[in-house]
Amino acid sequence: MSADVLLRATDVSLEYLDGARRIRAVDRVSLEVRRGEFLGLVGPSGSGKSSLLFLLAGLRAPTAGHVELLGHVLPPQADASAALRRRHVGFLFQEPFLVPYLDVRENALGHATHPEAETRLEALAAAIGMETMLRERPHRLSGGERQRASLLRALASAPDLVLADEPTANLDQETGHAVMDVLRAQTQGAALIVVTHDPGMLEGADRVLFLRDGVLQQA
Ligand SMILES: Nc1ncnc2c1ncn2[C@@H]1O[C@H](COP(=O)(O)OP(=O)(O)OP(=O)(O)O)[C@@H](O)[C@H]1O
Ligand SMILES: [Mg+2]
Repeated sequence: MSADVLLRATDVSLEYLDGARRIRAVDRVSLEVRRGEFLGLVGPSGSGKSSLLFLLAGLRAPTAGHVELLGHVLPPQADASAALRRRHVGFLFQEPFLVPYLDVRENALGHATHPEAETRLEALAAAIGMETMLRERPHRLSGGERQRASLLRALASAPDLVLADEPTANLDQETGHAVMDVLRAQTQGAALIVVTHDPGMLEGADRVLFLRDGVLQQA
């Protein structure tokens, strides 16, 4: 793998079993992402965008193909890939989830591996208008605040790869752009993939990938 290729997916597929029915959510996708790249991932609802992000993060094992992160093939067992993931991947889920009995700060620092995670967290919180929310529990937060709290968790450890699923969906334009600015600034020497239905959030993207029925369309 050439030195600056951070992530490589080779012919990855993901099938879900729905009763007796198999749903192929991701269909033989191959992809290379280099350090410093900012990619958009778009496509209709149900086209497999979230499923592809799960594969790229090692949160789901592909039913065929494989994913390499920093030259390591992600092992199929979620617990085996956890160490690699916690250290190198920041993941922002489409449905933000937070541990209800922990405050925003504790949620964000839960698995943080970076020695300066706490200092980083304060600067990040200030950049996205969350500095006064760090001691709040999730039930006190609005939807957009919960999403930003999840963003803090995704970025706390300065990951090499950030995968963000609809990071601005619950936000007004201005806050949405602030979130994108932080994502961009925090992934300068890393790589960023953003799923969005809002093309305005992908200004400056190096590439925009289009998924249809699980298949990556050629530009
Ligand atoms: N856990 C699951 N079990 C069965 N089918 C699933 C599961 N998760 C997703 N699917 C199906 O897989 C396909 C892709 O879903 P996915 O969530 O990846 O789409 P998406 O592009 O992220 O959609 P959206 O834009 O609505 O978030 C859909 O047909 C969906 O119904
Ligand atoms: Mg989705």
